[in-house]
Amino acid sequence: MKPRVLSGVQPTGNLHIGNYLGALRSWVKIQHDYESIFCIVDLHAITVYQQPEELRSKILELTALFVAAGIDPKHSAIVAQSTVPGHAELAWLLTCVTPVGWLQRMTQYKAKSEAQETIGDGLLQYPVLMAADILIYQANCVPVGEDQRQHLELTRDIAQRFNSLYGETFVMPETYLPAVGARVMGLDDPEKKMSKSEPGAGHAIALLDPPGVIRKKIMRATTDSNPAVDFETMGAGVKNLMTIFQAFSDWTDDQMVKHFSGMRYGDMKKQVAEMVVSSMEPMQKRYHEITSDPGYVDRILAEGRERVNPIASSTVNLVKQRMGIYTSA
Ligand code: TRP
Repeated sequence: MKPRVLSGVQPTGNLHIGNYLGALRSWVKIQHDYESIFCIVDLHAITVYQQPEELRSKILELTALFVAAGIDPKHSAIVAQSTVPGHAELAWLLTCVTPVGWLQRMTQYKAKSEAQETIGDGLLQYPVLMAADILIYQANCVPVGEDQRQHLELTRDIAQRFNSLYGETFVMPETYLPAVGARVMGLDDPEKKMSKSEPGAGHAIALLDPPGVIRKKIMRATTDSNPAVDFETMGAGVKNLMTIFQAFSDWTDDQMVKHFSGMRYGDMKKQVAEMVVSSMEPMQKRYHEITSDPGYVDRILAEGRERVNPIASSTVNLVKQRMGIYTSA
């Protein structure tokens, strides 16, 4: 049996080239080596207020984007988290073995709660729900970005605590940081990782940005006071543009240096823009094909749910039995 991989994305904001190069593209590459489950975590999204209509359409958009980017729904399950009731159910069961201090220490919780006037309980529980997403499928491997490493450690701590209280129940999931994943920074501020929740118009290139918008954003990207590309002295902005080009082109370091050294920024940016535009084009075309069939995305999510729900129910049942909760025979 193939090992199981699971990852999740929140259906908020616009998926961008940083998400693609850092995560989605490596999922596409590895999906067939695993039994793969990709989860659209709508229950996580509502830990901060989401406009309901927008949330609904983002779930469908994200599903279509997964497929357009190359996730093969015949092989990999694409699941809307809320359609599998076991996630929320297991989250409660795990909450009961999780010390609140572990949750208050999470850096993402601290950062997110600072920005809120009233801190929803869901924000604190967020990592327990994430642990449930992973443990409910007994996932062996969880490909996530560096920023999720702490949540993964917490997942293992919760699993370990459960196992030691109630007996071996959960598989220990490994964090998988894909070697090929590029870390893409904001175009307007190359010190910050490109983020879905950053509102600035020049910050991120969304996967569905039309070519004209992509070109404009790249031409306006922050560089430095040099006039031309110098690999020895380049600042974070130029380096980021080089990272983007290299990730899409798969060029070697040597090829990059030979081609770009001494090139003026205006010309370099044009080439980066064309690389991004031509790389996005097939994905965008597929996206529009997929979404032109109104029932297609719903069918994918229904199939995903059918496929994983039995696994989820059987884990929840096992956990209930271990904890002594009433389960019908
Ligand atoms: N917290 C993750 C993020 O913001 C999303 C997520 C939720 C997730 N559940 C998951 C990622 C399970 C991996 C596995 O990126």
